[in-house]
Amino acid sequence: RRSWAEPYRIKMVEPLHMTTREEREQALAEAGFNTFLLRSRDVYIDLLTDSGTNAMSDRQWAGIMLGDEAYAGSENFYRLEETVRECYGWKYLVPTHQGRGAENLLSQSLITPGSHVPGNMYFTTTRFHQEHAGATFHDVIIDEAHDSHSLHPFKGNVDIDKLAALIDEVGADRIPYVCVAATVNMAGGQPISMANLRAVRELTSRHGIPIYLDATRAMENALFIQEREEGYAGEPITDILREFCSYSDGATMSGKKDPLVNIGGWLSTNDRDLYEEARNLVVVYEGLHTYGGMAGRDMEAMAIGIREALDDDYMKSRVGQVRYLGMLLEQWGIPFVKPVGGHAIFLDARDFYPHLDQDQYPAQTLAAELYLESGIRSMERGIVSAGRDAVTGENHRPKLELTRLTIPRRVYTQAHMDVVAESVKACFDHRDSVRGLKMVYEPRYLRFFQARFEPL
Ligand code: F0G
Repeated sequence: RRSWAEPYRIKMVEPLHMTTREEREQALAEAGFNTFLLRSRDVYIDLLTDSGTNAMSDRQWAGIMLGDEAYAGSENFYRLEETVRECYGWKYLVPTHQGRGAENLLSQSLITPGSHVPGNMYFTTTRFHQEHAGATFHDVIIDEAHDSHSLHPFKGNVDIDKLAALIDEVGADRIPYVCVAATVNMAGGQPISMANLRAVRELTSRHGIPIYLDATRAMENALFIQEREEGYAGEPITDILREFCSYSDGATMSGKKDPLVNIGGWLSTNDRDLYEEARNLVVVYEGLHTYGGMAGRDMEAMAIGIREALDDDYMKSRVGQVRYLGMLLEQWGIPFVKPVGGHAIFLDARDFYPHLDQDQYPAQTLAAELYLESGIRSMERGIVSAGRDAVTGENHRPKLELTRLTIPRRVYTQAHMDVVAESVKACFDHRDSVRGLKMVYEPRYLRFFQARFEPL
């Protein structure tokens, strides 16, 4: 049998809207050639993100009816708190409206101006909150992560030598925590190994530095450990996740990914003082500490989703679907980040359009071309997303110039993946005629969301 076939069936459907090429040309021009600015009704297959775009199960929808919408002390909060404690293992929970709310709380609570925060690559909102709170961010991921051709099985690993050198250079007392993402979104959804996190723990505990995970896709990371790391082959992902988290002090979470819901997030920690501080701050930015910006029903749906996502068969089908798309693209020699990561295929726009300079926004261009071709929406993860240096104002120029085809959980079928692959192939076939874009409007913060472009 197919090892990744879905362990569920479809009970409710949502019609999709097809468009003509002329309609798409107009929609794209109105959106300033930025897929974030398209209206959803003009999109056929939406691979912009796997964030909040997941399908909930019948159990989760039933849970929605159990929403306790009390301002204070909602039953659903306690259910979520208990679920996080059991499945991830940290003691305290502060709910937030989504991941970046938790990042804000963590950054504001632990970072003081002049701090340094190392991380295995970066995520846009995470790094923003760290810098906004006054820290300098340092990328300590292994070099292989920046190479789309490297087949390293754990490209999300921290480079222990880089981290040790940074500790020596700036001093442990100026590093409030190490931020470890699992899996690493910007590297292509690449996992980090158990052994590597253990090594980070060994090093940092000698210096008294805590580790905070970005646990947004840590369950997907657990599947990679099960598949690739010695000693974990027969272990259920539940146990792998628990062990993984045990090497950290807490985490921020975007509930919109692994936990199979449309909105929500949290900060979790074993540190009583951080908990007290974050629980106090959350009332300023999000809401009372027993809802943090979520409705009671959202917290219930997340508690159920966390347990559903920890099913090995589900997780195999989730990551298996991404790999299926990768397999189709591979047979046509289309360039993308390998090995295939957990949540998306990242097309390598540098290799796709070798005739374009990075200042002509190859990844943004490819996202626009793919939309024009077939109404499929993808996302730039290259020079636009990388933004500018907070101090010098210069453009970051990331080695990876990628267009992400992000697969929502439990939403699209294998036939949809076939359409996606064929559309990418069509773009690949006429790649030589593509000329690139210029940016005509640049927002100050996280510019990729609202920047506007024109064709060259
Ligand atoms: N951390 C990671 C690794 C993420 O991928 C995201 C969101 C966040 C934090 C922020 O969480 O959106 O709930 O505030 N990633 C989405 C994406 C937006 O498309 O990759 P949020």
